Amino acid sequence: GENILSVNQLDRDCIERIFAVAKKMEPYAKKQKRTNVLEGAILANLFFEPSTRTRVSFGTAFNLLGGLVRETTGMQSSALAKGESLYDTARVISAYADAVAMRHPDAGSVAEFATGCSVPVINGGDGPNEHPTQALLDLLTIERELHRFDQKIDGMHIALVGDLKYGRTVHSLSKLLCHYKDIKFSMVAPDGLQMPSYILDAVDNAGHKIEIVDKMEGNLAADIVYQTRIQEERFPSQEEANKYRGGFRISQSIYNTHCKPNSVLMHPLPRDSRIEANELDNDLNLNDNLAIFRQVQNGVLIRMALFALTLDVADKVEQYEVAVPW
Ligand code: CP
Repeated sequence: GENILSVNQLDRDCIERIFAVAKKMEPYAKKQKRTNVLEGAILANLFFEPSTRTRVSFGTAFNLLGGLVRETTGMQSSALAKGESLYDTARVISAYADAVAMRHPDAGSVAEFATGCSVPVINGGDGPNEHPTQALLDLLTIERELHRFDQKIDGMHIALVGDLKYGRTVHSLSKLLCHYKDIKFSMVAPDGLQMPSYILDAVDNAGHKIEIVDKMEGNLAADIVYQTRIQEERFPSQEEANKYRGGFRISQSIYNTHCKPNSVLMHPLPRDSRIEANELDNDLNLNDNLAIFRQVQNGVLIRMALFALTLDVADKVEQYEVAVPW
């Protein structure tokens, strides 16, 4: 019955328990097996900011466990546009739903909503603050990708590249990596978009090594290269955002020149295809080490695990298996 609002709630034991349940979900996500363990349960999927994969994968994860999904999409189509408070919205939704997944443009908004909510609330991204389910799926992806090369998270080198200031996924991921040992971080961002100091302090206090650099050249030879989108919607003005357009683009030629032979390329997505040069160029699409669509698959597993754990059915998934008729 717990909320998942921030990665600050999670220690290494919690992370490993979530990963163990996530891996158990794989045959259900692949539809080799079916379970109705959440039959009759209703998820309120409340998205007050644009989303494709987080919204759809929360809904898919709940459906794969046998539950039903109701959703709002966008601030303007909800009563928040009429001035309703998050607290009142939460009291109302508590009367209908058994769990809530929520995204909102303001930092702290999901936690505020949770104060009025009597069912578990999972944060699907609150402004520039946190995106805990993305961080968990990223961490699971890192573990699985490194495993292909007999490597572990402990001792790895990760380069975080792009908009580290507004990119909430790299904030949450960096905090989760504080539970691991001897990691080298390369924070690769233009001066105006570097990682906030509170995250740098947390990473430093965990005993990790940090290099802060303002260019990609010579700084991408990492086991994991994690690129983020320039978060234009969070900039004070479009002119400010335009300054960074097209910079920090990783193409196959940059990969060949500056990455390691098997650097794994990650990105939370979406890639902004409106920008003439993608952050992760389309010419990488057939690169075996491009893990971006494997991240998406791991996202369903993580969200299934979090629903099963917060609704206390993680040990009953097999008991409620049903036949696959197709
Ligand atoms: N990674 C991510 O949060 O994507 P969406 O904005 O499409 O949900």
